[in-house]
Amino acid sequence: MDASVIKNDLEKVLLTKEEIQDKIKELAAQIDADYKGKDLLVVGVLKGAVMVMADLLRAMESHITMDWMAVSSYGSGTQSSGVVRILKDLDTDLMGRDVLIVEDIIDSGLTLSWMKANFESRGPASVEICTLLRKPDAAKSDLDVKYVGFDIPNEFVVGFGLDFAEKYRNLDCIGTLAPHVYQ
Ligand code: XMP
Ligand code: MG
Repeated sequence: MDASVIKNDLEKVLLTKEEIQDKIKELAAQIDADYKGKDLLVVGVLKGAVMVMADLLRAMESHITMDWMAVSSYGSGTQSSGVVRILKDLDTDLMGRDVLIVEDIIDSGLTLSWMKANFESRGPASVEICTLLRKPDAAKSDLDVKYVGFDIPNEFVVGFGLDFAEKYRNLDCIGTLAPHVYQ
């Protein structure tokens, strides 16, 4: 086994490249239909949403504009606290705009709840959320997520933008890491 090949670090593949691309095309068609004739602003959350944004926006047929936001969530270890610091704010004025926030994964939903409230305070026409993956806690929370790719089990996953110590973002599939990677 070649240790330099990142796929060899996966224990199991949860979602294949094909499954992800098919789902992204479905989401793009829905978003195209829902925002027909509107001037949609799509905001990607750095860095995890880079891959979803790139493929989702290329699968869409309507005009859109793109912006990015980077946030860091204060918290202990892997648990997010809901207290968020803006590392890079939007370049765009949200006044009167229809906004779609794109995320890679929603876990507790605290980061997105904060971001949605923050955006809503800037006077937009609407703010909706699209996430490729959603974990069970987020599905239970009252955060309203209009577009969900896949509901996944409560396991730590990497690939397609998702990282472990900043690695594995460039996998074209999504999976769990083999135990030897954590040791
Ligand atoms: P919330 O606030 O919804 O935070 O709890 C979501 C953020 O938590 C990270 N996260 C993960 N990152 N694999 C990852 O690589 C995972 O399985 C995972 N679960 C949560 C991620 O940064 C996301 O934006
Ligand atoms: Mg993230």
